[in-house]
Amino acid sequence: MKICFAVLLILAVLAIVESRWRRHRRHHHSKHHHSKHGSSKQVSTGSQGGNHDMNNWDFFMLVQQWPLSSCEKENVTHEHTCVIPKYVDGWTLHGLWPSTNVEKNYPTECTNEKFDPEEVRDLKPRMLKYWPNMFVDSDKNHFWAHEYEKHGTCAESVPGFKTEHEFFNSALNLRDEHDIGNILASQEITPRDQPYEGSDLNDALNKELGKTGCVQCQKIKDIGYVISAAVVCLSKSKEVIDCPYCEHKCLDEDKVYYQPIRG
Ligand SMILES: *[C@@H]1O[C@H](CO)[C@@H](O)[C@H](O)[C@H]1NC(C)=O
Repeated sequence: MKICFAVLLILAVLAIVESRWRRHRRHHHSKHHHSKHGSSKQVSTGSQGGNHDMNNWDFFMLVQQWPLSSCEKENVTHEHTCVIPKYVDGWTLHGLWPSTNVEKNYPTECTNEKFDPEEVRDLKPRMLKYWPNMFVDSDKNHFWAHEYEKHGTCAESVPGFKTEHEFFNSALNLRDEHDIGNILASQEITPRDQPYEGSDLNDALNKELGKTGCVQCQKIKDIGYVISAAVVCLSKSKEVIDCPYCEHKCLDEDKVYYQPIRG
């Protein structure tokens, strides 16, 4: 009886030590892989809980950013020195992210493939204009490598996204098809110096999509709320669907700046 008890006690202690060790490792792991690309914090700060399964997701988030706001934010927080390239004059891609219906629970790094710039050589002019890394203090390829390795590898289970080249090509095509600048302009929302009502922005996107999209706002010191990004949710067959959630959603009652990029 006594021996039995002692064995149980040892097992219990081992179980506790083991689970602590695991937690510790997981914490390290997610910290290590946490994006250095500051603006991805806008939407992707969740801890991923170790999902690396390319079959375990529900829809794509097509995330575009308004370069001015993203850049201003980085400059103000001093996370990065951010410069909008001369040839960028519209909405740019942040990424195309396999996502689940549960917020912050999305797969990452589903294969060990590394970004190879040679594979997307022919796409480079489009990538520079529509998917630029604006951080002058990080490697030119860093943003693409991060987006592909973290998110792109998880899209490989879907036709049209099976290789690095397919992933970038499809993402660029989807951006063209759902260009947020065009979508807002169709509802007479164009960059200007006076702020918009948050509701104008939300309504414009939803009306044009015919589905619920997601307009994201950030508060920037000395400016106020700015439109920072917008998400279009797409099924695996690339049809627009209602977004199941919206992080950093612009509130209808907020005054929101959508300011022109001055070259
Ligand atoms: C950010 O700061 C850099 C360096 O001071 C500057 O060149 C750039 O124009 C700033 N970008 C924005 C969008 O304010």
